[in-house]
Amino acid sequence: MRKRDLVSINDLSRDDVLEIFYIARDLKSRLAKGERPRLLDGRVLAMIFEKPSLRTRVTFEVGIHQLGGHAVTLTQAEIGLGKRESVHDVAKNLERWVNLVAIRTFEQKIVAQLALHAAIPVINALTDSEHPCQALADLFTLTEHFPSIQGLTLAYVGDGNNICSSLLLLCPLLGVNISVASPAAYAPPPAILAQAQRNAALTGARVALLQDPVAAVRDANAIYTDVWASMGQEHEAAERARVFRPYQVNGDLVASAPRGVKIMHDLPAHRGEEITDDVMDSENAIIFDQAENRLHVQKGIMVFLMS
Ligand code: CP
Repeated sequence: MRKRDLVSINDLSRDDVLEIFYIARDLKSRLAKGERPRLLDGRVLAMIFEKPSLRTRVTFEVGIHQLGGHAVTLTQAEIGLGKRESVHDVAKNLERWVNLVAIRTFEQKIVAQLALHAAIPVINALTDSEHPCQALADLFTLTEHFPSIQGLTLAYVGDGNNICSSLLLLCPLLGVNISVASPAAYAPPPAILAQAQRNAALTGARVALLQDPVAAVRDANAIYTDVWASMGQEHEAAERARVFRPYQVNGDLVASAPRGVKIMHDLPAHRGEEITDDVMDSENAIIFDQAENRLHVQKGIMVFLMS
């Protein structure tokens, strides 16, 4: 069998995603009963972090531990990926010692190169281009809040960034409509939109790119937002705060959506910027469910890739 990687949502078919969700749901319900099946007994996960993390770092480490394995964490200062040592050579070393790699880095091509050269599965734990683990946890979370996600509409409001791209690829694959409202200069990449439309053609989902946040949320079942300046863009924060101000998810915007609309955020949040406290702490917010499900879904991803 060929080894599998999760470099992009594009690496997964609809059936793959449903299998990951099935494993995640099973592991989540068994954990609630105190069961920790050692499906990855003795396996080692190497985690490479070139950017900060709370959720990804903790959930991968706790997840592999609950599955009977353990994690080794490596920072850029330690391994100097692509500087101290080539990506090829790092891949050829790691595959001799560990069974799985999760990497958070800047360029998508670094993850692709690592996956190309390593004989073991490689997971994208966030790049500037995509955040597939987060998007999978987000859609899994929606399955817990709606009887069926087919035909739902997710409104993404804000920066057309990495998580926006992964949601654009994943939602239509699962029959979920997605409306993105971004300032024109911060829209998601055309290639992502084109692939999203191709995925939508398979399921009949709708993909819409707008600039008006009110129009985007009008028929939404869930509103999703993210920080206006992602990791590495901090020097643009003041300009972005000005441009994105009309895209704040606040009480007025939520009032433009159908009653009961779910509120989503991948965290960390900048309260008072892209989302207000009252919305973030409202009873319809499922933000910390999303965070919790990073654990269960990433366990599903690891088991799926190692099967
Ligand atoms: N959402 C997310 O990936 O969180 P961290 O950056 O804390 O890992």
